[in-house]
Amino acid sequence: MRKLLAATTFMGAMFASSAVWAACTTDVKKDDLTAEQATGLYECIKEKLQAGYAASGDARTTEYKSWKPAATAPAAPGTHGKRFLYTFANDVAFEEYTKYSDERGPMPVGSVLAKESFNVNKKGAVKHGPLFFMTKVAAGGEAKDFGDWVYAAYSPKGKPMKISQKFCHGCHGAYDDQDSMGYPDEDVRLKTN
Ligand code: HEC
Repeated sequence: MRKLLAATTFMGAMFASSAVWAACTTDVKKDDLTAEQATGLYECIKEKLQAGYAASGDARTTEYKSWKPAATAPAAPGTHGKRFLYTFANDVAFEEYTKYSDERGPMPVGSVLAKESFNVNKKGAVKHGPLFFMTKVAAGGEAKDFGDWVYAAYSPKGKPMKISQKFCHGCHGAYDDQDSMGYPDEDVRLKTN
């Protein structure tokens, strides 16, 4: 009995500390969310989402936050497990990436794209998703079989995920004319040019 009480108190404390998080819900179906509504949900979870990634202790899971977003809003689900996706580009990548060109040469070496993700479940609650990275490395080197891109992902708790380069590139490699870049949905692309 005492054990049970302790457990209940513990759970109570956990929920109290996640009060903000609990409020990040919607009664609009995932597929019907507007860009504004998706952004609202994102703003609600942002701090916790980013703190979770940063718990990895790896510099890049903090650094990407200072890069420019490469979209106007988290893009509607489609790929990446039908999650909402929000991409950031480092200084090396930003100008080239945001041309969203479908007849590009290679992205500059040193380009890094980071992509936050979240999901909305059937009950309308927002779930944190992984943080994805693509890093452009020198041609013909370690990633020569994967378009010279190195793929990485961190769980919402900041754990480096065991991912297969072949799996990620199996899909990205199909974007042949875009140097393996998938690009955000057209509705949320920046109007740079
Ligand atoms: C089923 C196909 C598919 C798979 C598998 C996939 N991706 Fe993607 N990825 C995409 C598409 C499509 C986009 C662009 C969509 C968007 O940003 O809204 C994208 C975007 C990205 C971006 C932003 C740069 C870009 O391409 O525009 C990163 C970073 C990324 N993915 C990393 C990964 C990693 C890491 C893996 C493996 C764990 C992976 N992806 C697996 C389809 C895929």
